[in-house]
Amino acid sequence: VIAHFQPKLLQGRRLLITAGPTFEAIDPVRGITNLSSGKMGFAIARAAAEAGAEVTLIAGPVHLPTPVGVRRIDVTSAQQMLEAVLPRAPQHEVFVATAAVADWRPAQLNEHKIKKDGKKSAPTFELTENADILATVAALPDAPYCVGFAAESQDLVKHAREKLLRKKLPLVVGNLGPATFGKDDNSLVLVEADRETELPRAGKLTLARQLVAEIARRLG
Ligand code: CTP
Ligand code: CA
Repeated sequence: VIAHFQPKLLQGRRLLITAGPTFEAIDPVRGITNLSSGKMGFAIARAAAEAGAEVTLIAGPVHLPTPVGVRRIDVTSAQQMLEAVLPRAPQHEVFVATAAVADWRPAQLNEHKIKKDGKKSAPTFELTENADILATVAALPDAPYCVGFAAESQDLVKHAREKLLRKKLPLVVGNLGPATFGKDDNSLVLVEADRETELPRAGKLTLARQLVAEIARRLG
């Protein structure tokens, strides 16, 4: 019997991935977040590990089990996510940004719980913009192959293509969220400078495996 050794698609590659929402504190008991479930990112982490990659998963606040063989680092805010990602990014061949990073955070963090205290009007909060983690990584001199995600409610390909150009990425994966947020299946469109590739509706793990294969093909 001749045994053919089939090397795995991402054998020996290092892949960094962000997943889930971020949580931006207003005070010790309140904050701003979003409905990202983290399922797609966790599925990609699992699929990449199955494909032989060394996977580091930077996860926002989600209650999902860590995929087998994946190194997981939990963070809360966008700033913490950036601090976890930036020093690690140059040691990776691939960066996949699936996290729904909060675009803004409260400009001031209140040390103590804000009380009603008989105030006549509701408090107002000034917001300040969070750093763009993906664009920051893509601009590094030793940037990994960067994959962005775009969850849009309309004009999916147009918006995905705009993000491809604005963040200077080789690949943006579009999906029609928030209809897909928390759902177990999804459909994706891979948007690149010269083409679009559709991955039809399927379970998130199936799509994650297909996406990992597409990424592996592009690494050559
Ligand atoms: N992203 C990021 N850091 C941010 C915002 C977004 O890393 N502060 C990443 C996301 O993980 C995703 C991609 O950028 O891979 C696109 O995120 P999206 O929210 O769709 O794009 P924005 O540039 O924030 O634009 P908008 O929310 O206005 O559509
Ligand atoms: Ca955003």
